[in-house]
Amino acid sequence: MAETITIIDDRTGKQVTVPLTDGSFPSTALRELDADLRVYDPAYLSTAACKSAITYLDGDAGILRYRGYPIEQLAEKSTFLEVAYLLLNGDLPTAAELQQWTYDVTHHTYIHENMRKRFVDGFHYDAHPMGMFVSAAAALGTFYPDAKEIFDKKNLDRQILRLVAKMPTLAAMCYRFSTGLPFVLPNNSLTYSENFLNMMFKIGDDSHVNPVLAKAMDVLFILHADHEQNCGTTAMRVVASSNADPYSATAAAASALYGPLHGGANEAVVRMLEEIKTLDNVPAFIQSVKDGNGKLMGFGHRVYKNYDPRAKIIKKTAYDVFEVTGKNPLLDVALKLEEVALQDEYFVKRKLYPNVDFYSGLIYQALGFPVDMFTVLFAIPRTAGWLAHFSELLLDKEQKISRPRQVYTGSAERDYVPMVQRA
Ligand code: CMC
Repeated sequence: MAETITIIDDRTGKQVTVPLTDGSFPSTALRELDADLRVYDPAYLSTAACKSAITYLDGDAGILRYRGYPIEQLAEKSTFLEVAYLLLNGDLPTAAELQQWTYDVTHHTYIHENMRKRFVDGFHYDAHPMGMFVSAAAALGTFYPDAKEIFDKKNLDRQILRLVAKMPTLAAMCYRFSTGLPFVLPNNSLTYSENFLNMMFKIGDDSHVNPVLAKAMDVLFILHADHEQNCGTTAMRVVASSNADPYSATAAAASALYGPLHGGANEAVVRMLEEIKTLDNVPAFIQSVKDGNGKLMGFGHRVYKNYDPRAKIIKKTAYDVFEVTGKNPLLDVALKLEEVALQDEYFVKRKLYPNVDFYSGLIYQALGFPVDMFTVLFAIPRTAGWLAHFSELLLDKEQKISRPRQVYTGSAERDYVPMVQRA
């Protein structure tokens, strides 16, 4: 028997019975009771704003799957480009499809010279790379007037290919500018992650990319590729719902990611660990968090009330990286913080566990990335996820332009007061 839910309006005695599908009921049911009735849900705690077939997440059980495939299997067996294909197309590619996709991405990595010469070079010398990245993503769209033709599938696919292919180039360009180093052109003989590391760190003729480090970069890209309806993806969908071009929508999503409560947390974690500095300082720091002085960054999640499965994989990857680079001295502080927090009633009661950002920053640092590049490293792979949501939304017949309602709490109507009469 189909499950239903009955809602009774106690003011009028009217009632409506509606079907429950996958644990949700259509909000339009409320309109049948009263056209002016609203659900008040700041931060969308109980609102499903879309149907999506891309990513499955069970926060209580600590499960994350892309298109049905467990994140643990993808991290171990797949590559970022294969995962990007999976997210964007719905299924794993055949050998021929993967070969074509890899070739296409590899051959769209160059960006217009004016992006560097006129646009990126125009930033102030100490501009934050994420601020540069966000604006550069939007600016890139101006080079492609066809970007607006989003209902032409072939054309949209071309824009998606461009965005996935060019993000590492843009990111590396922003970094090289901020350090005053010459820009390194993409190298088509390298993999996606190798090419990115090469564009970041190549000095002179030394283009050696360590395979263990490139593999770690690729795993991190896989883990960050999508995470269903988080803040950035919601921004992506809201902007896409107005039928804006994918470059502008990607810039909007990246802006949301920039915040320290979202993708900016990995940067905040390392700054926090540097501030704590020694194991002896850990208990006092935990106490100050409990006293309400700031948060334990890299802990807690809106959806995960269990260990973030990505954090487990990242913790393991960290050890692979440290074997090559030497241990990040902040690792011991992080491990101690985790140990203390996971035994502390404050964190246990609130189900606060390490999230994806808790250990990722330590790896990024060991790989040689400066702290202010960390969120950019999150944005590169997440672009594939954002674009999968962009495409899904355009095909969803139930979607319209996003336009939430509000509960007005301002003044009632009042007459304009001339300046001389104002107190
Ligand atoms: N340290 C200390 N207390 C915390 C933390 C934390 N990291 N996170 C949540 N709490 C407390 C919070 O103060 C509240 O306590 P109380 O019930 O006494 O008021 C309780 O736990 C519930 O927290 P909330 O703020 O209602 O939870 P939320 O779902 O709104 O916030 C969050 C989720 C991720 C924004 C939050 O946990 C946080 O700010 N964490 C630190 C920042 C961080 O690591 N962000 C990365 C998230 S994962 C990557 C991504 O998706 O971008």
